This record gives sequence, C-alpha cells and structure tokens, in this order.
Amino acid sequence: MQEKIINLLRKEKGYLSGEEISQRIGITRAGIWKQIENLRRLGYEIEAFPHRGYRLLNTPDRLLPEEISWELGTKIMGKNIFSFTTLDSTMDFAYELGLKDFPEGTIVCSETQRKGRGRLGRSWVSPKYKGLYFSILLRPKILPHEASKFTLLSAVAVREAIVELTGLECLIKWPNDLLVNERKVGGILTEMQAETDRVKFLIIGIGINVNTEKRILPSQASSLKEEKGEKISRIELLKESLRRLERYYLLFQGKGFSPIIREGKKYSAVLGHQIKIVSHQKIIEGEAIDLDSEGALLVRRESGFMEKVLAGDVVRVR
Ligand code: BTN
Repeated sequence: MQEKIINLLRKEKGYLSGEEISQRIGITRAGIWKQIENLRRLGYEIEAFPHRGYRLLNTPDRLLPEEISWELGTKIMGKNIFSFTTLDSTMDFAYELGLKDFPEGTIVCSETQRKGRGRLGRSWVSPKYKGLYFSILLRPKILPHEASKFTLLSAVAVREAIVELTGLECLIKWPNDLLVNERKVGGILTEMQAETDRVKFLIIGIGINVNTEKRILPSQASSLKEEKGEKISRIELLKESLRRLERYYLLFQGKGFSPIIREGKKYSAVLGHQIKIVSHQKIIEGEAIDLDSEGALLVRRESGFMEKVLAGDVVRVR
C-alpha cells in the first residue's frame, strides 16, 4: 500500500488529491493520511496542502525496497529485496536464503552491519547510512574453482557504476578491491555453498564506502564522498550497480568469461606494475603481466619464471 502511494506521488508532478489517491488504490482518506505519516517517518518529504492534496518533495537516501525497485529495470538482480537497518552480516542472511532455495538475484542489504567481514577474516567497517553493504545470491552452473570469476565480474560491474555516478576514475586492484586515487573505496567478497563438482550457490558481498568519513576508515581506505568532495546518492549507486551486475552476468551466460576479463584488464590497477603478493604464506615478487582466461594473475619473477597466482594480497611496489 505504502509503495503504491509513493509511486503515484512520484509519477505526479504537481499535487494529487486524497480523493484521487483513494479512488486509484481503494483505501479511505483516513487510511491515506496514516500511510503518509508512515512514509514521512521513513524520511519521505511529502507536502499536504489544503484543497490541493499531497505532493512529493523529496525521497530519502535509504535502502528501502520501494526505493530500490523504483525504475530499476532489471530482470534478475533485485527481484527479491531484503532490506534491514541492522544485521550481523548480509553474507550470513543471504546464505540462509540460498539454503532455502530463494531465486538468484535475491539481494540482501543493510544500513549497517555489526560483523561486516572482508576477505581473509578481516572486518569491514559498516557505519550506518554511510556506505553500501549488500549481498547477492547467484546460482550459476559452474565448478567451484570458477567462483573467483564472479569476484572479477562484480568488480567490473560496480567499477562502472561508480564511474557513471561520480565521474571519478576507478580501478580494480586484483582480485577484489576497487580503488579511487589509489585508495580502497570498495571490496568484493565471494562465498559459496558447493560440492566438489558443482556450485550450489554463490553469495557475492559488495561493500562500498560511499559517504563515509575517512577518519573512521582503515588508513589505506577512502570513500567516494571524500574523493569527489560531495555526497553521493547511495540508492542510485546501488541501483546502477545492480543494473550493471545483471548486464555482465547475462554477458557471462551468453559469451563466457573472456569479455569480462577484457574489461578487468583495461581497468586493472596492477597490470604492468612491479608487485609483491602474499599468497598462501608465500611471497611472490615480480611484474604483473596478465590475467589468464580464468582470471588468475600471471606474475613474471626476476628469474623470468612466470607464476600463476589464484588468490592473494597485492602490494604495488612501483
Ligand atoms: C574485502 O575487500 O575484503 C571484501 C569486503 C566485502 C564487504 C561486504 S559488505 C556487504 C557484505 N557483507 C559482509 O559482511 N561483507 C560483504
């Protein structure tokens, strides 16, 4: 009901009378007033003018399902939306939905996380209403070793959304970081439920520091607001990310992984640089040469030996 009212007001440029709303969605005028009050409590600015009716002045930058789905235009991503004010981690909630056979494209977002997590057991700082913290359930027909392809796919998609909305240059630091001006503004975490020869489902977790103040972030990190110098709409960034995630997911289904690798290479922050990687307690130093067809990083050591690295933490030496 709330969603119906807000969408009517969105479409109407001027005022919409209580009578008209009441006729169109079939509730009493007292009922409308109650719903309008609820909407205001959620942060919608709605003007009520005697004899003219209601007019929508502003929508809140909150991760409300009705805001996310408005003109989203996707077929898969965001068809089911679970939105919370607080969760331990969107990864855990999405995982439960995966076990319960929810369809792919189901998303879980939260305004803050008590136990947001990053790769390798790190925590993910998730201040309330400042960043985007969401997870997507996917059910691609892939083998477990292919799961990391979806980290790159997501990085490519979210990078594009960031560039589109902020105009900032954004690069992908293999395998999962999004950098603006060499500072981390976002990260991707891919988890899965799998058997040896089949992935049952993937959970792609995406964290973006949107309007977060630098002082509460880890030292190498920043936020889009800090880099741009102005606030960014979280809701628009989430929607644009979902649209682009869907586009690349469909591209992957139709044409495989190579077009995604091509994009990943174009916007890589590491290729062509001298790097150091800590991978499985081993330190690999050399020049980052290429991404192979699986998304693994090829590093040429000083000896000339080409090392294929599947995962790890990259530090750029020069
Ligand atoms: C990383 O850079 O190490 C990955 C960070 C992923 C953070 C996101 S925020 C939404 C989702 N829920 C979590 O607990 N983690 C991911």
